[in-house]
Amino acid sequence: MPKLVLAYSGGLDTTTAIKWLTIERGYEVVALNIDLGKSREQPVVESRGIAAGASKVRVIDAREDFIRYFAFPALAAGAVYQDAYPLATALARPLMAKLLVDVAHDEGATAVAHGCTGKGNDQVRFDVGIQTLDPALQIVAPTRENAMARDFQIEYLKQHGVDIPWAAKGPFSIDENVWGRSAEAGVLEDPWQEPPAEAYEWTRSPEDAPSEPAYLEIGYQHGLPVTLDGAEIAPLALVDRLNELGGIHGVGRIDHIEDRLVGIKSREIYEAPAAVILHTAHRALEGMTLTKQQIKLKKHVAQEYAELIYNGLWFSAHHQDIAAYVASTQRHVSGTIRVRLHRGHAAVVGRQAPESLYDRALATYDRGDTYDQSAAVGFINIWGLQTRVQARKQLLGELPEALKIAMPREDA
Ligand code: ARG
Repeated sequence: MPKLVLAYSGGLDTTTAIKWLTIERGYEVVALNIDLGKSREQPVVESRGIAAGASKVRVIDAREDFIRYFAFPALAAGAVYQDAYPLATALARPLMAKLLVDVAHDEGATAVAHGCTGKGNDQVRFDVGIQTLDPALQIVAPTRENAMARDFQIEYLKQHGVDIPWAAKGPFSIDENVWGRSAEAGVLEDPWQEPPAEAYEWTRSPEDAPSEPAYLEIGYQHGLPVTLDGAEIAPLALVDRLNELGGIHGVGRIDHIEDRLVGIKSREIYEAPAAVILHTAHRALEGMTLTKQQIKLKKHVAQEYAELIYNGLWFSAHHQDIAAYVASTQRHVSGTIRVRLHRGHAAVVGRQAPESLYDRALATYDRGDTYDQSAAVGFINIWGLQTRVQARKQLLGELPEALKIAMPREDA
């Protein structure tokens, strides 16, 4: 029997996949459960996987690696897809692809499988990742090849002696890990409808959040968060804590019409309290420590980085190039940001950085001003030179016309 390693969540789709791959495709299936945090099925994966006919269930706790090597680099880069989505699912897939390939090698398997449909981005991220890391591995996607309705899956499992009491189908399609939660489908498919309360699970609604704000101080070192309220904290512990605190204060809800790589526009509801707080604070620290030219270019690079993550190109030279640029920009991005959480908002209310470019002696309107105001006159003389020359040589007589465009007269 050829061996296959399946990315196994413990849900109905991948549980059915174990049986299907065994019966219809003749594989010995090793179920690989990758723990990225927050999965409800975590406690039952082993028993379910075995019940469905896996020869073994392997569980890897990848939470710390996920935050350290995937989420935090994206944070330092400022990677947020379409200015909205902090990429929780998209960042998880390349790590899962890597672990699938590693375990396939370890098990002597010739194939790997995942439970993605043919309509989403995740199939692309898995397939491209796996093909890049080991082009010799066969990839099987049971749900894409042979989508079965939910009741049919339950029936199919029963027919083959797998009787698991499945909870009633939830109203949404959910994917979650420590960096964020996504909800799609059901009533969310109507973009005019406000998401119902049940669409949210990690965050309180801002109306129900405490009337008293909470204050946090997040310390960054070279663009990565390392302290909370003055005390050192490990990446995963920090993210867990901020998810909890942000959730209490209704921070991190995102309602987004998103452009999938496969051409579909889809309505996504995200909850990502920690990611939102950390991105907000990081951006504020860059405002203190980068020049305006650096901020401008980095914004473009961040967008490019978000797209390459979203589009499944994690294992690429393009990524390496961008990562080198980002690392260079973060050399002086160290300092502390004070954030106020209150009723759905994470507001930056204080910042300090040892290598800050903000110089109060230059900015002040009070005593102690070191800025030479008389020098502004010469600067403006040079700065406006080309515009003045152009107005005189080319635009004279045209200016009234130009003004008409900007301000149409009533009698025009
Ligand atoms: N739209 C998001 C993305 O493409 C979330 C996808 C959630 N995945 C899922 N299988 N439900 O990254």
